[in-house]
Order: sequence, then C-alpha cells, then structure tokens
Amino acid sequence: MSSIAEEINKRRTFAIISHPDAGKTTLTEKFLLYGGAINLAGSVKGKATARHAVSDWMEIEKERGISVTSSVLQFNYDGYCINILDTPGHQDFSEDTYRTLMAADSAVMVIDGAKGVEPQTRKLFKVCGMRGIPIFTFINKMDRDANDTFELLDEIEKELGIATCPVNWPIGCGKSFKGVYDRHKESVITYSDTQKGTREGETTVIPISDEAAVEEAVGKERKQVLFDEIELLDGASAEFDLEAVRNGKLTPVFFGSALTNFGVEIFLQYFLQMTTTPLARVCEGQKIDPVENEFSAFVFKIQANMNKAHRDRIAFMRICSGKYEADMDVKHVQSGKVMRLSRPQQIMADERKILDEAYGGDIIGVFDPGIFSIGDTLCMPKANIKYEGIPTFAPEHFARVRQIDTMKRKQFVKGITQIAQEGAIQIFQEYNTGMEEIIVGVVGVLQFEVLKYRLENEYNVEIKLEPLPYEHIRWIVSADTELDKIVGTSDMKKIKDLKDRPLLLFINEWSVGMTLDRNKGLELSEFGTA
Ligand code: G4P
Repeated sequence: MSSIAEEINKRRTFAIISHPDAGKTTLTEKFLLYGGAINLAGSVKGKATARHAVSDWMEIEKERGISVTSSVLQFNYDGYCINILDTPGHQDFSEDTYRTLMAADSAVMVIDGAKGVEPQTRKLFKVCGMRGIPIFTFINKMDRDANDTFELLDEIEKELGIATCPVNWPIGCGKSFKGVYDRHKESVITYSDTQKGTREGETTVIPISDEAAVEEAVGKERKQVLFDEIELLDGASAEFDLEAVRNGKLTPVFFGSALTNFGVEIFLQYFLQMTTTPLARVCEGQKIDPVENEFSAFVFKIQANMNKAHRDRIAFMRICSGKYEADMDVKHVQSGKVMRLSRPQQIMADERKILDEAYGGDIIGVFDPGIFSIGDTLCMPKANIKYEGIPTFAPEHFARVRQIDTMKRKQFVKGITQIAQEGAIQIFQEYNTGMEEIIVGVVGVLQFEVLKYRLENEYNVEIKLEPLPYEHIRWIVSADTELDKIVGTSDMKKIKDLKDRPLLLFINEWSVGMTLDRNKGLELSEFGTA
C-alpha cells in the first residue's frame, strides 16, 4: 500500500489549451495511447467520434456534434498518475473552459506550426498567466509546412509575453521534416512515418557529435542548417530555468506532429519531469499543503441534467489536499453542513466510474442536491478551510433576453437565475433605465442556444434573444468610483450584476482605453471577483 504522500506526489494535473483545430484532441489521444488507456491500432478515435464520446449528455451536443461540457481523463504512465482536464475544443467555448484552468496545476499549449498564436490560445493563456502556473508549448503539425521556427518563438514571446526555451528543435518541416534535435540530450531524433500514428515509429537517436551519422540521416544541407541554428539558438534563447518554468515566466517549447505521433512521447517525458506535483492552494492568505493537510476540495464546475431521466446535477471538484474515501463525512463550508459525499464519480470520456478513493490533484464529480455553487469549499468536519473564490471571466457576447409569454415572468426569472448560478451564463440588469430587462453575457455564442434550449425544456419558458453589439466588459475595481460620474465614450453602456456591482460594456477595446483616460483614478478589470 502506498502512502497518501506517495499517491499525491505522483499526480500531475493539467489542462490542454489551444485554438480549435491546432491538434488538442489528437495530442490527448496520443497521450492516452502511451498511458495504455486506449490501444494502438484501430482504436484511435476520429475527431467526430471522440467529440461524441466525451459527452453525450445534452441533446444539443448530440445535435451539433460538439462537446459543451469538459471532462477529465486519468491514466498512468511511467509511475505517474496523470489527470488531463479536457476543455471544450470548439470555437464556441464557454466560461467553463476558463474555470477548468482554475483546477489545473499546469497547462499544455498546443500551437499549429503553420498558424502560430491564435485568438483562443491568447485568451486561455491570459487566464493561465493570471494564475502563474507553468505553461508548456507543443508546436504541432511539423509534418506540414510550418512558419519559420525563430519567428514562431518570437511571436509567442511578443504576443503572450512569456520567454521561450526550446527543449528540442525541428529539423525541417512538411515533406522535408526529418525529426528534432534534443538540446538536453544533444541528440538528433529522426522522424519516421507512423501511418497517422497507428503503428510504432522507427525513430533512431543519433548523438550530434556523430556528424557523419547525422548527415546521413538528415542530408548534408539540413545538417548544415541545423548546426547553424543550434549555434544561433545557444547564443540567443533564454537559458533553461526550472524555477522560471514553475512560476509561469518561461515556457519550454517542443516540436512534433501529434497526428503521426512524432515527438509526443519525448514531450510527455520532459513535461512530467518539469511540471509540478499538485500545487498548494490559498485559503485566507495561507497555503494549504496537498500532503500535510487532510481532505479538502473546491467546486469548479457544475453540470446540470447530465442524465435527463434523473435531472441530476453533478458538481465537479478538484481535490486540493489529502485523501477522499468512500462514504466519508465532509463539511460543505459555505452552508456549514456536514454531509456524506454520495457516490463520487470519475467522469472519463463517456463512462462514469464510482470511486472508492481519490487524492489531492484528482477531480471528482459528486451528485449535487442543489447546495453547491462554483467556488465552494469542502473539507473535513473539524477543519477550517475556505478557498478563495473563482473569478468571473469576461463574457464577449451579449443579448437582451425577453420571455415571449409575459405571464411566465416567475418561471423565467427562476430558470435564468438557476442557469446563471451554474455559471454557464452571466446575467446583468440595465442601470438606471427603469427597465426590468435582463442582459445575458456569454463567453461563447453556443451558450445562447443552450440557454434557450434549457429554458424551453426545463422551465417551459420561451424566450427571444436580441443580440447587443458589445464585446468588452469591465468590472470596476477602484473603490471610490461612482458609476453615475463615469464619463465614457458614446458606445459605452453601464450595467449592474445581480449583486448590484457596477460594470461597463464597450463595443471596442479602444473605448476602454479612452474611458480610462477620461476618468482619473478609474481602475477596470477583465476578471470579476466571485
Ligand atoms: P482540436 O482538438 O485542437 O480542435 O484539433 P484536432 O486534434 O481535432 O485536430 C484538428 C485537425 O488537425 C484534424 O484533422 C487532425 O487530424 C489534424 N491534425 C492534428 N495533429 C496533426 C499533425 O500533427 N499533423 C497534421 N498534418 N494534422 C494534424 P481533420 O481533417 O479536421 O480531422 P480528421 O478527419 O483527421 O479527424
């Protein structure tokens, strides 16, 4: 029997972030392959089936063939127990995608070598940056023509503001992709076709000092380019510094091809060594150590109606410290109630598995009788832990919402409030217009459809959504600012959230800057406090 400390220390919990189509799903599948969670030939799921498999819970997902929910994948590899937090990969991602990052200890950023940094990567990166978690970069699709490698690194540094340190370096790309040079091992690892990853590659490892063998493997010209690039790189790139990686100041960069399964295992091995064990979490300024402390967890996601027949709600929580055991009594801190966590589950792909035990770093889903909210803490009955809440992330699409049958006002308000509590949407009210209308803000436009669908199906209320042109929302953080006195641009709109906190909506980023210029002392934030 291994001790709690051993169990926790072997855990690595991370999220994969990318812009749609960069290769997140493909990379995840290859990880699972190494973990033995799926078989090599034949069972590598195509995108369409993978997306269906991840979650079939909501009708809308089935109809659209996309996953609205996030799930967790757990597998063992090389003595590690790996938890991958899956984030919705479609363009229409939601606030859940951001929240999932609050439960991760590090992030793997997948970039398409031909596209570089794309908008969704940028947004997700911002959230990771806010938490200061380690970020690892996998530049994918090197089997296709890619942008200049130095330019790619430059783009990451400039666009995302993080220093880069290539751990390996590509030798050519596209049709002339020959492999990578491993800077730590000072060896060339040759690329071989794996027929889209369905069979093992025949890679060879050649020490860079064996110049003749390197030349034979990559060709004379490529060899010279590689030697020149290595020299340039050694002089120009940031030194590898594990401390800086752990603080999210430096991203180790890897190159490969997820589809052909090249560079994936090399990446996984380095990643596991460089990333952290479950991180301590903060409670009232104090760090709660994952090993030293008894069980504690926080809720980062609530998914309603996963099983239509039962109308159930599942609260996903990240275990921050200690061990969870079946039928253990725990305290729900926000209500002060001691409760038994009934049948916690691990939700992996389309399966649900009942768990007997779980440890710091793990994610569990528990049946929610309607008492959990996002950000809530659970701990041992006698303990006194209350984790800091999860911030509210800026929606980017807004609509005015009206119920079609005005007699159903009560159901409408109840429904929309409950759905907002789950955190899929945010609701706001007009400021000082005397209008009772509700404004809905979402991170991805799909959530508008989810809202409409759920209000109709679960609350029997039909609604009409009238899109508004705003794209930028800012919370007012300066304490002595009076909403009435703010002088904004003509496209600015003042609103309030349900807790009466003032917010500003803008059509463009320029207006945000202009409003800041016009109001001395005004401080705005892209993240709201919970
Ligand atoms: P996502 O989850 O980030 O959205 O991306 P996903 O893995 O679904 O990959 C998007 C497309 O890119 C897929 O092609 C996938 O096969 C392809 N792809 C992923 N990694 C690589 C790579 O290393 N090299 C090349 N050449 N292609 C890669 P698709 O045609 O959209 O889907 P499918 O029909 O192949 O499943």
